[in-house]
Amino acid sequence: MSDDGSTANARHPGLVEPRTKEDWRCYLGYQSPARPALPSWSDYQAMDTGARRRFNHDRGRHHSALVLAWTPPVLHFEELILERLQANEDAPAGARPGLLIDGPPTVGKSTLVKMIARRFELGLREDFPERFAADRLGDYVPVVYLSVPDSVTPKQISLALARYLHIPVSSGKPTKDDIDELVLTAIRRCGVQLLIFDDLHFLDCTQREGRASNDHIKYLANHAACTIVGTGVDLETSPLLSEGRGADRNTQTAGRFSHHRLQPFTVATKQQAEQWIGVVATLEDALVLHRHAHGSLARRHWRYLHERTGGSIAALHDLIRLAAIRAVRQGAEAVTRELLDTITSSYATERQYAKVVGGRHQQRTSSTRSAPPAKQAKPA
Ligand SMILES: Nc1ncnc2c1ncn2[C@@H]1O[C@H](COP(=O)(O)OP(=O)(O)OP(=O)(O)O)[C@@H](O)[C@H]1O
Ligand SMILES: [Mg+2]
Repeated sequence: MSDDGSTANARHPGLVEPRTKEDWRCYLGYQSPARPALPSWSDYQAMDTGARRRFNHDRGRHHSALVLAWTPPVLHFEELILERLQANEDAPAGARPGLLIDGPPTVGKSTLVKMIARRFELGLREDFPERFAADRLGDYVPVVYLSVPDSVTPKQISLALARYLHIPVSSGKPTKDDIDELVLTAIRRCGVQLLIFDDLHFLDCTQREGRASNDHIKYLANHAACTIVGTGVDLETSPLLSEGRGADRNTQTAGRFSHHRLQPFTVATKQQAEQWIGVVATLEDALVLHRHAHGSLARRHWRYLHERTGGSIAALHDLIRLAAIRAVRQGAEAVTRELLDTITSSYATERQYAKVVGGRHQQRTSSTRSAPPAKQAKPA
C-alpha cells in the first residue's frame, strides 16, 4: 500500500473533525487522493482484472474526495476574516470584534471556515517558518478550531479548549475559573490568532447553562487577544445576538460580532447563474471517466443540477460524487442526465426537488430511485 493509504484515510478532515491541535495539523498536511491518469480506452480494456480493480479503486477514492471549490462566497469570507484578523492584530486590549457566519444546514459553513483557516495557517508557515520549527512545535498554535458540542456548558467549552491545546487540568477538582485561567494563559502563550467556534447554535441559550455559555464567549472575546469566528444556524434569532429579555447583556455580544449570511446558491440573475455554473464546472473537471462529455454538466445541465440540489453545495457535491462512482461501477463511464436521474439524494434534497418540479418529478422513469412526496402546503 502507498504512503497515503489507510492512515491518510483515517485523517480525512471530512471523516474526523479536528479536536486537538494535532488533528488540526493532520488536516493541514492532508493531501486528497491523487487524481489517477486516465488510460486510453483500449489500454483500460486490455488491463487484467486485478489492475483494473486497482485503477477503479483509485478512481473511486479520487471521486469520493472530489474537490473543494474556492467558490465566490468562500473567497468573500476569506477576505472578511483576513481583514478582521489584520484589524485586530495590534488593537488595544478589550473586546476584539469577531465575525459570525450564519446559514442553514449543509450550506458549507464548516468546510468554508476550515478551508480559510487552513490557508491562513499555511501562509504563516511560509512567511514565518521559524515559528513552526521542530523545537517550537506545540508552542505555536495560530489557529484553534472547535466544533461546539451539543448542549454545551461554559466549563465544557474551556475543557474542550484545554484538550485542543493539551493543557493538563485533571489534577484535583479545578473550577471553571481555574480552567479559564489556564486556557487564557495558554491562548496567549501559543499565539492563537484565530479562534473558530463551529456550530455555535449548540449554545442553547434558552437554558441557564446556555446563557452562561453565551456569557463565556463574551468573556473570551474580552480576554483572549485573538479573533473569534463563529458559525451556526439561525444565529440572528438566538440570544447571542437578539435582544429579548435582559437587553443590555445581549447587546454586549451583538456589539462584538458582525453578522454575515451564507445562503445556498441562486440562479436568478446572470451573475448568480455564472457563479453556480463555475461551481459545477469545478466539480465536473475532477471527473476521471472515459466517456464523459467534458463540460456537459456545466453547459447543459446546470439548471437541472440547481433544481435537483436547491443550490446546496453539499447536495451537489454528493450527487456528482455518487454519479461518478456509479458511472464506474456500472460501466457507463459518463455522468449524464439519465444517470443523475437514478440517484436518490438526501430526504431534504429530494423533498425540495419534488416541490420545485411538482408533476414533472413523478414522470421520471427511474426504477432505482425513490423520492419522498413534496410536503403539502398548509392551507392559508
Ligand atoms: N466549498 C466547497 N466545495 C466543495 N464541496 C463543499 C464545499 N463546501 C461544502 N461542501 C460539501 O458540503 C458538505 C457539507 O458542508 P458543511 O459540513 O461545511 O456544511 P455546514 O453548513 O457546516 O452544515 P451543518 O450546518 O450541518 O453543520 C461537505 O462535506 C462537502 O461535501
Ligand atoms: Mg457544520
